[in-house]
Amino acid sequence: MKLNGKVAAVTGAAQGIGAAIARRLYQDGARLALIDLDQAKAEAVARECSEAGREAIVVRCDVSNRASVFNAVDKIVEACGGLDIMVANAGICQVRSFLDLDESDWDRMLAVNVKGVVFSFQAAAKHMIASQRPGKLIAACSIAGHQGYAMLSHYCASKFAVRAIVQACAKELASYGIRVNAYCPGIVQTPMWEAMDAQYSQITGAQPGETLRRFARMALIKRAETPEDIVGLVSFLASDDSAAITGQSIAVDGGIVFL
Ligand SMILES: NC(=O)c1ccc[n+]([C@@H]2O[C@H](COP(=O)([O-])OP(=O)(O)OC[C@H]3O[C@@H](n4cnc5c(N)ncnc54)[C@H](O)[C@@H]3O)[C@@H](O)[C@H]2O)c1
Repeated sequence: MKLNGKVAAVTGAAQGIGAAIARRLYQDGARLALIDLDQAKAEAVARECSEAGREAIVVRCDVSNRASVFNAVDKIVEACGGLDIMVANAGICQVRSFLDLDESDWDRMLAVNVKGVVFSFQAAAKHMIASQRPGKLIAACSIAGHQGYAMLSHYCASKFAVRAIVQACAKELASYGIRVNAYCPGIVQTPMWEAMDAQYSQITGAQPGETLRRFARMALIKRAETPEDIVGLVSFLASDDSAAITGQSIAVDGGIVFL
């Protein structure tokens, strides 16, 4: 197992893509810490993982709060004896027209999707540097980090920011041996997209499921992705196989954006 002896933390691990990543990194052999606002759901994923023997731990944390993230990382380091892989996956989305977006919409989006990645990377990198144990920082970006989409301007801005942070961080942290990359999913059927589909329906009158199907048809694979479609890339980025890859935001989108 390629992550034997490694400790991996995944934010937003209670459901959707984060839960699938957590399961995969656990199967890869990592000691696993699940971070989420929703402790009960995260514990259900942790119990499922722990059935294989190694105990997965859960830390409740709001990634938009710096102290909360730093405390979470301290707890993980103490419980697991270190931290080698940080997957800053937690994120939110909202479907709203550019002209209707108010200040609180922007603040919330940037607090979770941008500051959440910044704090997760800072807390993990500081620990890696102090312990002289260089590791992997991995963020959830998106096709919306490469292209703007109508009704999603603040979400797209947050994901363009993630791509910028990944590039800048990779350059700053390379001398410590830390690698920094992102995965960019396309249209993945998760609770997030179910909520987006309902929000689009309210605005456009589309039938439930219609918007998700319409967006999924943009992909060359002509279907929505599953969370499991994303995990192979994250597993690779977490492993030593990707030692020479850094600063990249890689599409795993079924063929929507071409970089
Ligand atoms: N679903 C897609 O099509 C898609 C496409 C591209 C990128 N992404 C990105 O992938 C990531 C995961 O998406 P998903 O579809 O699995 O989302 P989801 O909404 O299904 O799950 C997100 C998880 O993050 C947690 N979370 C939200 N805010 C948090 C906070 N402040 N602190 C801690 N945890 C918090 C939620 O409790 C939830 O468990 C997100 O960053 C998202 O932007 C998703």
